[in-house]
Order: sequence, then structure tokens, then C-alpha cells
Amino acid sequence: MSEARDELLLGDARPDLADAAWDHVWIGAHLATMRGGGTPPLGAPLTGASPGADGYGELRDAAIAVRGERIAWMGPAADALRAPAIAKAEVHELSGAWITPGLIDCHTHLIYGGNRVAEYERRLSGASYAQIAREGGGIQATVRATRAASAQELREHAAVRARRLMAEGVTTIEIKSGYGLELATERRLLEVARSLERDLPVSVATTFLGLHALPEEYRHDRQAYVDQVSGPWLSGLAAAGLVDAVDAFCESIAFTVGETEQYLRAARALGLPSHVHAGQLSDLGAAELAARYGALSADHLEYLGADGARALARSGTVAVLLPGAYFTLRQTEPPPVSALRAAGVAMAVATDCNPGTSPCTSLLLAMNMACTLFGLTPLEAVRGTTIAAARALGIAADRGTLEVGKRADFALWRIDRPAELCYGLGANPCIGVVHRGQLREDARHG
Ligand code: NIG
Ligand code: FE
Repeated sequence: MSEARDELLLGDARPDLADAAWDHVWIGAHLATMRGGGTPPLGAPLTGASPGADGYGELRDAAIAVRGERIAWMGPAADALRAPAIAKAEVHELSGAWITPGLIDCHTHLIYGGNRVAEYERRLSGASYAQIAREGGGIQATVRATRAASAQELREHAAVRARRLMAEGVTTIEIKSGYGLELATERRLLEVARSLERDLPVSVATTFLGLHALPEEYRHDRQAYVDQVSGPWLSGLAAAGLVDAVDAFCESIAFTVGETEQYLRAARALGLPSHVHAGQLSDLGAAELAARYGALSADHLEYLGADGARALARSGTVAVLLPGAYFTLRQTEPPPVSALRAAGVAMAVATDCNPGTSPCTSLLLAMNMACTLFGLTPLEAVRGTTIAAARALGIAADRGTLEVGKRADFALWRIDRPAELCYGLGANPCIGVVHRGQLREDARHG
């Protein structure tokens, strides 16, 4: 038995059995706590326990008890059945289902107006993403549609996408603004993001993506736009409590390293953490910049050199991999996963849900693509949407693993082993979702 599991059973579980109070107990389940350490050797045997069972932090024939919105106890099912606290608890028998931490989609542009299906058709006939962007389409097309949409329209469409993610076990969604590019619409996007958290049983982390694209009206004065975003826009939105973090698209068709740095510096002065869209289409040194500013994450990273990977490792910045965008743009150079792995960079996986490069509302599909297209192991992909994704949002102290005291956010799955979460294409083995200790009413049973 691993040290981690010793601690789990002896340290967390038994002492509080006598006087604990539980509201709910899920019993007869296998837990993938994601508390395990180490990377399993590639090519580990395919029989017996899951390859990397230690990495998943497996607890078989187990139970998990919840008090309020926190995990109160985890341990062997047999111990739970003997515990006095079970008498007053609502007991849910799972007959061998698996429980993982609630999945975290740590990079989305979930809220936008319209769609870009016509551009999809154009790209299929040979036009490139960068070419369409230069012609005023791309992000600018969505900006026009988003500015024209009311808050209610934006909320209704985003809620449909959020529910699709939630149906696959997602309990936390990061949502970026960035399709307003004028203060009033950026504010509307962030307010809609906050309102989704009030309306739906899901947690939201908001990101002010002020530097996404240069809006038309600033075409002849880039610096004025960067000054506005980094100055009054950021401080005003932050003062309104709408900004959990900032993000910038640092790319040849978007913003330079110098412009991005000005924005990150302004965020740091306000005590706000950052993310950076880095190395999606070219290597400008954006990952190194993200590392210099201690960004929570650098995202995309198809174009990343060895120095960039080492810089991310030194700063503890999470590499967020977005295979949906890679797939949609039919890119051919995947991110340097071996270099990231060798450098010890934590890798997260997200949908990048957006109307242009990744109209994807399936985090399980992103996990499949991360394995099949990028070469992640299933364990890395499951870490990538649990503990690594929590780190990418700065919330790992409270979410991302199953641990006593952490938020009771978890997903119930009818699967044989955790790797099955990455295996299906279009399958959804989620049979229930618990968010803040409550079984979500929209979750399927069976
Ligand atoms: O993450 N790269 C910049 N932002 C999005 C794409 C946005 C769009 O095309 O609308 C992305 O891929
Ligand atoms: Fe993105």
C-alpha cells in the first residue's frame, strides 16, 4: 500500500468515524482520488489493476461521505457501514461505479454571439485561420455578433454549452471574456459568466481576456488600446469583482510580447493572477514571458522550445493543452509533450470551447484527443482535467482531488477503470454529478 493511501486511511478516515456527522454517503464505489504521485511507466502491463493505479490514488470498494459542501470522510465501504454517522445520512449505493474529482475545464471562451460555421466551410476549402483573421473575420466576426447580442441571449446560449460540459462530469468552468473588446461588452460577458454560476449548479472562474484582438476602432492606435485595457478597464472590472484572472493572446496576429507584458504587469500590480495564450501559431517567447510573471498557466504551446519548457517548470506554470483547437485548425505539430514531461511541467487539458478554433463542448473528447493526438497517457489526461486543471486556476487547495476537507465536487462514472474516461469517442459514461455536496438534478442516473 502506498504512503499516500496509508495516510488516507489512518490519518483521515478512522479517527472521526465515531463522532462524525454525514449528510450523504456514496458507497460501493471505487475512488480515483487523484492524490497519487509519480508517473506510471509507459507501456505498463494491461492486466490486473489499472496501469498507474498509484497515480490515480485508487481506493477500491470504498465510500465517500459528505457534510454540507465538504468531503467529510473517505475509506473502505465496510468501515462506512459500521460508522454511527451513516444512520442519519442519505445513502447512495453505487454498485461498483467509479468516482473522480469533478472535472475542471480550465480554458473556455464559452460566452459569445453567433457562430462561425461559414468560416469553417471556408477553411475546409483551403483558407487559413490567420488569413481569415487578417481579412476582418475570425475573432472580429464574433466580436461584432457579441456586441449585438443582449445579456439574456448570451446567457441562454452559453448555458446550453455549459450544460453539455456539466453532463460529462464538469463541476468548474473557466470562462474568458475577449469577444467584446469595448468596456461595456467585456463587462457584460464577465457579468454573464458570474450569472451562470448563480443560475446553474456549477462553479465559474472568470478571466478578463482584454488582449484578445485589436478592435477595429483602435486599428490605428494599438498603444492606446493596450493602455486602456491595462489601465482603467482592468482596474474598473477588477474593482467590480468580475475578474479572477487575466489572459492575453500573445501571437503574431494578436499582441506582441511587449504589449502582453504591459498587461501582465498591470494585473500583477492589482494582485491578479494571469494566463497567456502562448505558442499557438508561432513561438514569440510568450511562454518565457508567462513564466517570468509567474502566470498560473501558458496555454496551447504547439510552438514551444526547450527553453520555454524549462522556464515553465521553474515558475510552476501549468501547460494547458488544447487539442480541440489543434484538431479544428488541422495543425500538424503537436505541443512538445516529451519535453514538458521531462522538464516536470504539469499539463492540463481543456476544451478551449470557442466559435472559431474549437467549437467543442466535450471535455472527455478533449481528453481522448490529448491522448491520441498529443501522446498523453490516460493518467496524465485525467490529471489534466482534475488536479493539474485546478492548479491552472489557482484552486488546487480546495478542488482537483478527493480529499477530506476539500469541496465535495465529484463525478460518478459507469466505467471499468479510469482510463476509460479517455477511451470513448462520443460516449458519456457519467451517471451523476455532485457539486458542493449536492447531487445535481440534471445528472443522469443508472
Ligand atoms: O484559444 N487563440 C485565441 N483565441 C481562441 C480562438 C478565438 C477565436 O478564433 O474566436 C483560441 O483558439
Ligand atoms: Fe483560447
